[in-house]
Amino acid sequence: MSAAAPSHARAGVREQRGPYQGLAPYAEEDAPFFFGRDGERDIVIANLLASRLTVVYGTSGVGKTSLLRAGVAHRLRERGRDRLARGGRPELLVVVFDAWRDDPVAGIEAATRAAAADLFGAGVELGPASGRLATRLHRWTGELSCDLLVILDQTEEYFLYHAGEDGEGTFAVEFPRAVNAPDLAVNFLLSIREDALSRLDRFKSRVPALLANLLRVQHLDLPAARSAIHGRSSPSWWSWCSTSCGRAGSSSVPPARARSTRRPGGTTTTGVWRRPSCSS
Ligand SMILES: Nc1ncnc2c1ncn2[C@@H]1O[C@H](COP(=O)(O)OP(=O)(O)OP(=O)(O)O)[C@@H](O)[C@H]1O
Ligand SMILES: [Mg+2]
Repeated sequence: MSAAAPSHARAGVREQRGPYQGLAPYAEEDAPFFFGRDGERDIVIANLLASRLTVVYGTSGVGKTSLLRAGVAHRLRERGRDRLARGGRPELLVVVFDAWRDDPVAGIEAATRAAAADLFGAGVELGPASGRLATRLHRWTGELSCDLLVILDQTEEYFLYHAGEDGEGTFAVEFPRAVNAPDLAVNFLLSIREDALSRLDRFKSRVPALLANLLRVQHLDLPAARSAIHGRSSPSWWSWCSTSCGRAGSSSVPPARARSTRRPGGTTTTGVWRRPSCSS
């Protein structure tokens, strides 16, 4: 009798040697092999759902893209697909964008169309794009009857390819308008390398609360690294903390500001990588 196929093979997931991805970031389809980030994923999701704009930053190679794609986007899309499979309507459409070289506004639009077709089927066509980005997004959330979560990754490349751009129709103008639009059912997450974080100052005058919701991704701590190496899902620090502290709500999403520290310059960061101490 032949041995049973591994669970990921049965589930139709592409074959992989183990939890190591090599130099490449983990993609959404690599989620079954992505470990050590459960707590960070839940914190990022909580912030993304609660705030119009979340900024995620961390040193180069710390794992931002992997966390956002194999953790955050995968988990949220999975929820949407589950709802569809149960005959319901997904309340959220997740869009991930990281191709900054060409026009980012057109790129975000194309990524939104692709995400809608992926979730609802190729028959779903969003209305023609004209006018401001905020107007288009508003129309599409209405057409789809769901909110949008737009994840902008590798934002440091925007500053590389579009240094100094400005004016109607550019990302420099359209993005702040969309973030500030009062009735828009769209939340944004912007991920950027730590050494480029100060470049976001360019948006400061147009987005007053630009850094109000700032999350720092740190290197894996030892237990999380062990999880990543051994391919086990790490215990969520929230359930760990609620067990250790006797707090209720182990199954609920952790609070958006789990552990805040003051940074020079007055911004608030959340150490999404560290377990909070129970007294904090
Ligand atoms: N949880 C994890 N377990 C094992 N390897 C990981 C994990 N997260 C990321 N990696 C690996 O670390 C490397 C860097 O990951 P990733 O590209 O996601 O980082 P990044 O912060 O987005 O980098 P950059 O700043 O260059 O965009 C990749 O080789 C990736 O496979
Ligand atoms: Mg990256």
